[in-house]
Amino acid sequence: MASRICVTLPADSVQYDIQIADGVLQSLPSIVGQCRAVIITNPTLLTHYQERLRQLLPDATCITMQDGEQHKNLETVAHLYEGCFAAGLDRAGKVIAFGGGVVGDTAGYVAATFMRGIAFIQVPTSLLSMVDSSVGGKVGVDHPQGKNLIGAFKQPDTVLIDPTVLKTLPDREWRCGMAEVIKHGFLADPELLNLALWGKSQAAELVTRAVQVKVDVVQQDPYEATIRAHLNLGHTFGHAIEKVSEFAWPHGEAVGVGLVCAAHLSYRLNLCSASLVDTVTQVVQQVGLPTRIGDLDPQAINTAMSTDKKRKSGKLRFVVLHGVGQPAMVDDVPQATVLDVLRSLQ
Ligand code: NAD
Ligand code: GLY
Repeated sequence: MASRICVTLPADSVQYDIQIADGVLQSLPSIVGQCRAVIITNPTLLTHYQERLRQLLPDATCITMQDGEQHKNLETVAHLYEGCFAAGLDRAGKVIAFGGGVVGDTAGYVAATFMRGIAFIQVPTSLLSMVDSSVGGKVGVDHPQGKNLIGAFKQPDTVLIDPTVLKTLPDREWRCGMAEVIKHGFLADPELLNLALWGKSQAAELVTRAVQVKVDVVQQDPYEATIRAHLNLGHTFGHAIEKVSEFAWPHGEAVGVGLVCAAHLSYRLNLCSASLVDTVTQVVQQVGLPTRIGDLDPQAINTAMSTDKKRKSGKLRFVVLHGVGQPAMVDDVPQATVLDVLRSLQ
């Protein structure tokens, strides 16, 4: 199965393709063309794909950043700028992100800022980056104050998704990607929650369907003035959990339990039925993601949420669910209610 989804943002005169197909990596040389290019990736990916990348783009310079969320920071960005200068990259050059969401977000920030912005190609290699982070133009890095606090909007020029690279993705990372898939399912496409349909052999169909949910939202609200905020379902809790765990909890696992927290919060605010809480919990559990916060300190998570950028006018904002396909925003939630939710999920 091969599909092509076109993202159109008329107000910005931006249009780009997301190509999803087994083997689509072969088109990388024609997309890059004759210009100078750097590939930003990490040593884990190079273990599997160094030779392939060399064959595809023999003239490109490969620059590596260390693997892991703890390296998604401005120090790494500075290191990558040095690599871009050393490679002789100029304003006509291209940055190619080859990796998961950490590489994509960091490389995207480099592309957005190097010489005030140069062309950017996303080649996501984790399920999470295929269904979510490579699409929509949010790029950036973490700050000691919190996740993704330094960043920009930089739409890619092309997104190339080759599901065959998922063969080397560890199972734990597949499960992390499923967190964003089911988030999209609860937001807008219940068919994504029918987990019996979605094994690794259906990856191309799964990614196409999940990406479509994100594209539909981003096209309506590219700068998160309104409904794009719904894509943060589970993320106010999730980002705080990542931070408090000092990134021992990967993003996808934190979002998984964050979805459960968001469902409990919705119920406590009398916005949804108890059966919705059960459904969210069951789906998260079925995927193999955590449904409880374990030994993380609820008070510490609550405090960490106070630096989340999803605050508005000093108040924390949460995405809640009235039902499947019925998200909404609330920003007057008492801290005590949030703390109760976290304590109930220890
Ligand atoms: P990641 O980038 O850390 O990748 C997870 C692990 O899988 C890493 O060790 C990576 O090296 C490895 N890996 C990736 N592809 C592989 C492959 N094909 N074979 C073998 N190993 C592979 O994590 P992630 O889950 O991809 O992304 C999480 C990041 O994405 C977080 O920083 C999160 O904040 C960000 N994110 C951004 C957006 C956005 O809109 N920009 C949306 C969602 C998440
Ligand atoms: N992951 C949230 C967004 O892209 O808006």
